[in-house]
Amino acid sequence: MKGSRGGCSLIIILCVVFAAIVSLSMAHNDNTAIPIRRSRGCVAYNPIDRCWRCDRHWAKNRKRLANCAKGFGHGTYGGKKGKIYIVKDSSDENVISPKPGTLRHAVLLPEPLWIIFSGNMNIRLTQELIFMSHKTIDGRGSEIHVSGGAGFMIQFVHNVIIHGLHMYDIVEGSGGMIRSKHDHVGIRGRSDGDAISIFRSSQIWVDHCSFASSYDGLIDIVAASTNVTISNCHFVRHDKALLFGASDKTPEDKILKVTLAYNHFGKGLTQRLPAVRFGFVHVVNNDYTEWQSYAIGGSDGATIISQGNRFMAANGACKEVTKREIVPESVWCKWTWRSEGDLLLNGAYFRQSGNPHWAKAYKGYPLIPALPAKNVPNLTKLAGASLKCRRGVAC
Ligand SMILES: *[C@@H]1O[C@H](CO)[C@@H](O)[C@H](O)[C@H]1NC(C)=O
Ligand SMILES: *[C@@H]1O[C@H](CO)[C@@H](O)[C@H](O)[C@H]1NC(C)=O
Repeated sequence: MKGSRGGCSLIIILCVVFAAIVSLSMAHNDNTAIPIRRSRGCVAYNPIDRCWRCDRHWAKNRKRLANCAKGFGHGTYGGKKGKIYIVKDSSDENVISPKPGTLRHAVLLPEPLWIIFSGNMNIRLTQELIFMSHKTIDGRGSEIHVSGGAGFMIQFVHNVIIHGLHMYDIVEGSGGMIRSKHDHVGIRGRSDGDAISIFRSSQIWVDHCSFASSYDGLIDIVAASTNVTISNCHFVRHDKALLFGASDKTPEDKILKVTLAYNHFGKGLTQRLPAVRFGFVHVVNNDYTEWQSYAIGGSDGATIISQGNRFMAANGACKEVTKREIVPESVWCKWTWRSEGDLLLNGAYFRQSGNPHWAKAYKGYPLIPALPAKNVPNLTKLAGASLKCRRGVAC
């Protein structure tokens, strides 16, 4: 009896020790960028990628991506509840009655759709591409280049995922008669020449896209749009890249909430990475390797929380990360712009202002927990649309 009781308590002690070791090692995994290998050859570094990338059967389980949005765009499921639509035709000739099989035909349908492509394509949009709600554009498995024509107009809708596209050399659309809903055709003015324009829309997630040199901006988020996440994207060669809040006269943009996570701001960028008016922007674990004028700017009381980013100032460029527009320090000193755990290199500096105890005021906000900034090169290593996913192999 005695002996067996002793054996039992030994087992209990061993169990307790084992449980402690397991929970310690799990905590370790949650708090660092140590990659989880689930499929041979696949290393997904960041929590968004880890949600889907190492699944060898990603092509059969495409809609799994719909559960992976984090930050303010969390819960964006795009076309998860709809059918798969395969774009087989890269043309965009008819903007009033788009041909079935084209991207324009797909995004204008009223029902939820998960839109994929039959092969590699270069799509030159004749006019801005206007979306209906509940769509996913999923470029995985194909090289999809949207360039040389107009850009995307996400207006008055919600719940859209854009994943795996190359967008560059976007120009103004001439305007004219364009279908803007499945049941409405109307006359539209010139489009701005933004790669993606998000206008009075919410629940938008842009992931693993590559953006470069367009006529106006790369991504605009305006007119009381909110709940947007831009993650794992790669930005290069552009002057005014990201504009959140278009004007000093639109206080409705106070509602704007955007997460920027795991993006790489690379070669040939000048400013607006992003520029923010009124709203709240969480900038977490991004890699900034070039800006000429400034990285993060803003005005009108915008709130900017910068955590775990790597800011590497370029030689011969401005070293200050931040820029406040036009008002005296007595005004901007009240704007909450905080830098926590950022890695500031080559003379880069972030001028902070506002409330250091900001977190108390924003309890319940879906802020992606920052990983250490030294892991940013790994976290953003595969940013952009060049994952080259192949069927049957983890991306
Ligand atoms: C934005 O998301 C929050 C939850 O995070 C929700 O309460 C709010 O209604 C959303 N707003 C819009 C316009 O979708
Ligand atoms: C990046 O990941 C590699 C392994 O994939 C690792 O050896 C390296 O230490 C990581 N670097 C950092 C800074 O975490």
